[in-house]
Amino acid sequence: MTSSIKCVGVLGTGVIGSGWATLFAKEGMDVFLHDSRPELITKCRQQASSNLDFLFDQGLISTRVCDEAKTRLLPVSNLAELAAKSDYIQESIAEDYDIKKSCYRQLDDLAAASTPIGSSTSGLLMTEIQKVMKTPERAFIAHPFTPSHLVPLVELVPGRQTDPRVLEDAAVFFTSLGKVPVILKKEVPGHIANRLAAALWREAIHLAAEGVADVEDIDKALFAGPGLRWAIMGQHLTYHLGGGEGGYRHFIEIIGNSFEAYWRDMPTWTKIPADAREKIVAGVQKMVKDRTYDNLCAERDEKLISIIKTLYEEGADKGASSPS
Ligand SMILES: NC(=O)c1ccc[n+]([C@@H]2O[C@H](COP(=O)([O-])OP(=O)(O)OC[C@H]3O[C@@H](n4cnc5c(N)ncnc54)[C@H](O)[C@@H]3O)[C@@H](O)[C@H]2O)c1
Repeated sequence: MTSSIKCVGVLGTGVIGSGWATLFAKEGMDVFLHDSRPELITKCRQQASSNLDFLFDQGLISTRVCDEAKTRLLPVSNLAELAAKSDYIQESIAEDYDIKKSCYRQLDDLAAASTPIGSSTSGLLMTEIQKVMKTPERAFIAHPFTPSHLVPLVELVPGRQTDPRVLEDAAVFFTSLGKVPVILKKEVPGHIANRLAAALWREAIHLAAEGVADVEDIDKALFAGPGLRWAIMGQHLTYHLGGGEGGYRHFIEIIGNSFEAYWRDMPTWTKIPADAREKIVAGVQKMVKDRTYDNLCAERDEKLISIIKTLYEEGADKGASSPS
């Protein structure tokens, strides 16, 4: 699946499809774009072009790469054309089993049996989706993080019928695009990163609902503290350092009890309480002030670029500390 991929089909050209289109075009591939709403293909091309201009402004790509990439954003009018022209298909349509299954059933017939198909799904299971396919072994999950043209992580998840070699090839392919792939050994709803985020989010909601701190301070306690370290190393390695010379085992022995007490004090609800919802939405509105969505995205992306340049640019040590 690796060096043989020259043409990629981006199916679903919303938020995530636009990020993928930017990445694939920047990396020199022809990108065939299809969406059930043609006006969103136009919007995706505009968004991807603007993303490429941003990468150029930030010194990450040359004028030539930027200009050539824009010529590789190619709309196609139907699924058959996308399937026929693509060496790999990245699906980013609506997060719904019925919609995805209907699409995979058609792709299965339209795309050559050797064409791998990766789904961007944030939380659905490939085992369920690939049930409708005659050649399910080429289907897997390739889950990105927003903005998907900038954030390195891509979670690769098999379904029960996925060929493990397809997943290994996908890891090589995404690595060649500058991504940091992680391969899950078995599927779980939400993969790894969204499950970790879900656990943290519940506690962030709870702290706001209980009035422990303002929403702004709860966010600050993350981005100015552990968030900085998480860009460098994950939870396990961080706590290994927390144990000093004795390492992770020592950390568990000396701090484990305290954490068990925190866990006993934490909520386990699975539905966001209505009053908590109002509190956190109001808290975020206060924090956002008059900044628009575009202002906030630009602010985030400029800072992200600085971090990515430091950690992931050529020469940076991706292996030792990568947040995978
Ligand atoms: N938004 C995120 O933060 C995020 C992050 C990672 C992964 N994802 C996943 O990516 C996928 C897309 O999410 P999104 O946020 O880009 O959604 P979106 O609504 O922005 O885009 C989805 C696009 O799919 C199109 N579409 C729907 N059904 C279609 C069909 N049958 N054929 C062709 N096009 C169709 C829609 O018109 C829309 O343009 C979902 O599976 C989601 O879970 C989202």
